[in-house]
Amino acid sequence: MSQPPILLHLDSSARLAGSASRALTAAFVQAWQTRHGATQPAVSSGANLDANLGASLSAGSSQQPQVIYRDLGQQPLPAIDQTWVAAYETEPEARTGEMMAAIALSDQLLDELFAADYYVFGVPMYNLTIPTALKAYLDQVVRRDRSLDLSQGKPQGCLTGKKALVITTRKFNYRPGTEAASRNFLEPYLEAIFKIMGIADLTFVVADRLGEGAEVRAERLAQAEQELLQLAQYW
Ligand SMILES: Cc1cc2nc3c(=O)[nH]c(=O)nc-3n(C[C@H](O)[C@H](O)[C@H](O)COP(=O)(O)O)c2cc1C
Repeated sequence: MSQPPILLHLDSSARLAGSASRALTAAFVQAWQTRHGATQPAVSSGANLDANLGASLSAGSSQQPQVIYRDLGQQPLPAIDQTWVAAYETEPEARTGEMMAAIALSDQLLDELFAADYYVFGVPMYNLTIPTALKAYLDQVVRRDRSLDLSQGKPQGCLTGKKALVITTRKFNYRPGTEAASRNFLEPYLEAIFKIMGIADLTFVVADRLGEGAEVRAERLAQAEQELLQLAQYW
């Protein structure tokens, strides 16, 4: 019997109430669960991945799609520090206990990335790029001993065969051809860093111009939601 699909859902907005990116990721994930046959949509917090997935399997819902949720905006991850970097630069078998403790969270985040088949990221644009909360996450998971393979001379990404969706919100319009396009460091950055980790199947859905008044905002959000609901039908 094939394994049920697992989706990793991460939000990175600092805003909770009224967050456009949170509303859009939630709408997509719900539609995705329904399309994958969920009768009781289940969400595991990342911290309890093994326990929650194990419990749902033993409860007989083994064919239910699973969602692992991390709220990077509300529960920010620590920035990498000197012990983390020392661990990163030390071969796994030579790491001290202190080094292993410093990268234990990183290992857990990577376990989630490897376990999941689908990734959904909610990413508001902050100061022309991604929020610090998401950068802290990426710093934790780009690892030469886990998500990258350097043994062949040229780095190879190890997170292959995954599908990633980035739902990104912003006030202004940075689309190709606009005057602001060259100031958009969000999509180019995420495309590059995901590619380094082997994540090549990447889709962006952009809800922009949200700062152009209530009418345009409502229209742009409805359009993005429509796009997402259609995408969920074949994702
Ligand atoms: C700290 C901060 C920086 C922002 N920087 C930009 C920006 O550079 N360009 C832009 O178009 N919007 C910017 N915005 C607006 C947000 O991208 C926009 O409000 C978006 O909808 C936020 O997503 P959320 O509603 O999920 O929080 C910024 C907002 C904040 C709070």
